[in-house]
Amino acid sequence: MGIIVNEKSKTITLHTKHTSYQMKIGNLDYLIHLYYGLTMYDADLSYQIKQYDRGFSGNPYESRDARTFSLDAQPQEFSTQQQGDFRVTSIEMVNSDGSYSFNGKATDYKITKGKYNLETLPTVFATDQDSVETLEVTLEDTVSSVQVILLYSVFEEADIITRAVKVKNVGKENIQLKKIMSTCIDFLNGSDMDLISLPGRYGQERQVERQPMTHHIHTIGSVRGTSSHQQNPFIILCDRNATEDYGKCYGFSLMYSGNFLAEAELDQYDQLRLVMGIHPKQFSFEIKPEEVFEGPEVVMAFTTKGLTGLTHLYHDFYRSNLCKSKFVKDVRRPVLINSWEAAFMDFDDVKLVNIAKAAKKMGVELLVMDDGWFGKRDDDNSGLGDWYVNEEKIKCGLHKLVEQINDLGMKFGIWFEPEMVSEDSNLYRAHPEWTMEIPGRPAVRSRNQLVLDMSRREVQDYLIEKVNAILDDANIYYVKWDINRSLADIWSNAQPAEKQGEVYHRYILGLYRVMDGIIKTHPDILFEGCSGGGGRYDAAMLSYYPQYWVSDNNHPIDRLKLHYGTSFVYPVSTMGAHISDTGKFVSLQTKAVVAMCGTFGYELDATHLSEEEQELCREQSDLFRKYYHIIFKGDYYRLSNPFMVGNMTAWQHVAKDKSESLLSVVVTNLTCNGPQEYIKAKGLDPAALYTINDGKEVYSGSALMNAGIPIEREVPEYTAFQFHIQMVKE
Ligand code: GLA
Repeated sequence: MGIIVNEKSKTITLHTKHTSYQMKIGNLDYLIHLYYGLTMYDADLSYQIKQYDRGFSGNPYESRDARTFSLDAQPQEFSTQQQGDFRVTSIEMVNSDGSYSFNGKATDYKITKGKYNLETLPTVFATDQDSVETLEVTLEDTVSSVQVILLYSVFEEADIITRAVKVKNVGKENIQLKKIMSTCIDFLNGSDMDLISLPGRYGQERQVERQPMTHHIHTIGSVRGTSSHQQNPFIILCDRNATEDYGKCYGFSLMYSGNFLAEAELDQYDQLRLVMGIHPKQFSFEIKPEEVFEGPEVVMAFTTKGLTGLTHLYHDFYRSNLCKSKFVKDVRRPVLINSWEAAFMDFDDVKLVNIAKAAKKMGVELLVMDDGWFGKRDDDNSGLGDWYVNEEKIKCGLHKLVEQINDLGMKFGIWFEPEMVSEDSNLYRAHPEWTMEIPGRPAVRSRNQLVLDMSRREVQDYLIEKVNAILDDANIYYVKWDINRSLADIWSNAQPAEKQGEVYHRYILGLYRVMDGIIKTHPDILFEGCSGGGGRYDAAMLSYYPQYWVSDNNHPIDRLKLHYGTSFVYPVSTMGAHISDTGKFVSLQTKAVVAMCGTFGYELDATHLSEEEQELCREQSDLFRKYYHIIFKGDYYRLSNPFMVGNMTAWQHVAKDKSESLLSVVVTNLTCNGPQEYIKAKGLDPAALYTINDGKEVYSGSALMNAGIPIEREVPEYTAFQFHIQMVKE
């Protein structure tokens, strides 16, 4: 049905396959939000809105005879500033006369075929432009001479609606933008809703928290210059009683990698407003006449099928509409071994070749040379910024090293941390003005490194040239792109004093330009993102990298929580997961089962493994390749919550046609002489018959889902089971 306009009622309704979203050009031309939820056939849902004469909720001047009309109680598509609405704002700006005010009225709208585009920021894309419709509504403040353009794209089949915003100065004087939120959703009643977010810390990213809405402003955000380990630009609003399988759930995923903010305010009348966009902290952007500022995209989804239903919407959509890399769909990703936990920075070409030779026996297909190969880099106090090969370590040169690896029948990958510089580096000595340092103040060091001023064109060009030179010099198949600190000392020597409030955002714009210049010009290279693990794991980054390192924490039992939390929005195919020496008491078998909930690889010194261990690893790599299509392309189910007290953590991947499934269980807690426990499968065809691990017995899908699979309990701690469930062909 797409986008339907009713000229008479002045409603605009966006329809996806199962959802509807309605707005209306209402009283005094304010753009009212009317509905977001299951498909709604009624033409005009404004009957729901009852306005009363409320104390202390002011009325717009033009409606002075109607004391019942107040923006403070009006659901809106984009909340105004200083117009008697005291809830969280969508915009804060300073007009040329110094007034803080924006009063947007709908003046125009248009509907077009295809997906809108942003010039400065990454967005999702349409695989078929004819299947997507876009609505553009212009709100104008005629006193300020400022337009806010609201963009909506409707992905009907995917049940996804995206939103973005542009601010255009149509006047003759400069304005200062202080806050701009890309989405604003006003729920008429939110008192029985919960907010789910993914807070964490270094080594423990995206843990899951659920809190009931209470009467205050719940804020989720980052002011670290990156989307961060501490919070993630994704939230869910759901019914209080929503579970994995049932209940209304709304998802909001922001395509932005810098400071972000989501504010959810349950107001005095139990209305719930959610806004989400760039964090206004230290943000002040000058918009000159005729200039346009773009706010990042928010990808929104709604389902009544619970948290799993929401996860499936995002996984499916992000697997097809987010990243154009051929490694998303068309090319299987190789099993890799990474040198970091094998050697840290203590390696040379011979050691790497030896690791590769041993790894080859384990069925590994790609050797990744991590940090330590460039400049003067024997520890993390020096070298960053000097992106040329350290020939004291790589004595044969990069070209020859790659050739040796290729001769083994393996591919070669390399690590970069482009955004950083060490004080002890040739780059810093040549260009101390290229770092972010506040004049007259010693800069905050973190891992003993400083941050390059990515807002500077020269810095961007330097990085594009240097990184591309390495990538073009040898046969490089894979790149890991790291960033290992939060941003502080926000300052650009290239900007005048009054524009320093633009630097946080300009950093991100510069970063995207560098990524465009490196990643998009190397479509055959597989890129993996990393920020001390998963410190910048967001949808915008995933539009460049098909995969992201989940965490520096490789402990398989911690990984159960890390994978669980990450899976709420980001597909399993994006989750970088390796087997390492971390977790002494956990078997290689269990580590492999856990790493198969992701891209699967190794991060250990393969030369230290016994022949039996290498053989076991070969079997694991083969299994991963065998199950790749289910893991990467199937539906993912969280079967238990590792944050709850329980004895097992289980999850499942199910092929789209339900013909096959991989169900994994890790016993996390032993109970002496305990009760028999069962794991109930999901997503199978109830009427079909299945075998497990090629066994002779046959079970119906309904039995496996309702009676469950008995799990052996008298086993060593952290035992893992993997059940390959296969439909019996007639
Ligand atoms: C970060 C990454 C690690 C490794 C090191 C190298 O911590 O998360 O995987 O690449 O940097 O310095």
